Amino acid sequence: MVAGRLRVRATRAAAMLAAALMVTAGCARENSGGGSSAKDGGVVHVVCGATEDWCAATTARFTKTTGIKADFVRLSSGEALARIKAGKGNVEFDVWYGGPADGYAAAAKDGVLDTYVSPGSTIIPDRYKDKSGLWTGVYVGALGFCSNTTLLKKDGLEVPDSWADLLDPKLSKDIGMAHPSTSGTAYTALWTQVVLGGSEDKGMDYLRKLHPNILQYTKSGSAPAQMTARGEVAVGIIFSHDCVATMEQGFPDLKVSFPAEGTGYEIGGVALVKGAKNSVSGKKFVDWSLTTEAQEVGPTVKSYQFPTNPNAKVSDKVVNLSDIKLVEYDAVKAGSAKSTLTKRFDAEVAQAPKS
Ligand code: G6P
Repeated sequence: MVAGRLRVRATRAAAMLAAALMVTAGCARENSGGGSSAKDGGVVHVVCGATEDWCAATTARFTKTTGIKADFVRLSSGEALARIKAGKGNVEFDVWYGGPADGYAAAAKDGVLDTYVSPGSTIIPDRYKDKSGLWTGVYVGALGFCSNTTLLKKDGLEVPDSWADLLDPKLSKDIGMAHPSTSGTAYTALWTQVVLGGSEDKGMDYLRKLHPNILQYTKSGSAPAQMTARGEVAVGIIFSHDCVATMEQGFPDLKVSFPAEGTGYEIGGVALVKGAKNSVSGKKFVDWSLTTEAQEVGPTVKSYQFPTNPNAKVSDKVVNLSDIKLVEYDAVKAGSAKSTLTKRFDAEVAQAPKS
């Protein structure tokens, strides 16, 4: 009898403790946009695909404005995607910021992004965002050629203005480009060839033909700008704004040109990682990244992408997208094909750089 009463008391106490724990947990938890819930430590861990300088300036400004701590790791698009996927189950990052949206679409397909429709996303044009909130565009950049005019002149070559020009045997081992498995920039170049050629096979054909002219496939997309500036190669295939930034670092001999056949472009994204440990702060970061304040940070660190918020000031160093011929860019299509095409590139053209 006594033992029975004790058991009841113990059960009641356990139930009360469980209820108390649920209340405490309820205070620390908040429902996330994707229907999951997560704790929040008042900090945002960002995996950042923009330039190192921009990542640093952006996270610092976010903290200054909101009081929420933020840190970042700069990773190229393919590396960020791999790291987010590897973190499934023990999520490392709260937010992915910067880098082409096809990487985000690929991540969404793999189920590692949360949906979050930020209230601020209504101002972002539909063509620059995923309707369900899997990712939202924060900038737009156009792919181009970055030429070292002194080197080209020495070799008696004109600044290239077509993809066909890049196949000239006189440019043997004289072009720099990143590897599409690691770099979103290079994947944009690959996808551009798929769109221009009308099929994956035609796209791969072009890249195979281009291969003898590539000195090195770098890990990060903007690295060929430095190679071109230092005279290691005559031409870099990069986002045009990365060439403009390098010119401003003291290399006025560089020249930006665009291919007449049409060029690819990126929509740099932002997204909440599924299962983010700091999803409340993560959402605040996403909200803030869509504001004019956030989108005007780029030019302060020589990053001249086009802002997706129509109210953000546009630097006169930003390329006028209506002046160049752009190929169609469907982030979802490009993202779905990413895994197959990068594997094909590894097997048929060149292996990804190891370090
Ligand atoms: C540079 C560009 C960004 C681009 C990024 C992609 O940082 O300025 O506009 O999104 O490269 O990086 P990745 O290394 O993946 O090519």
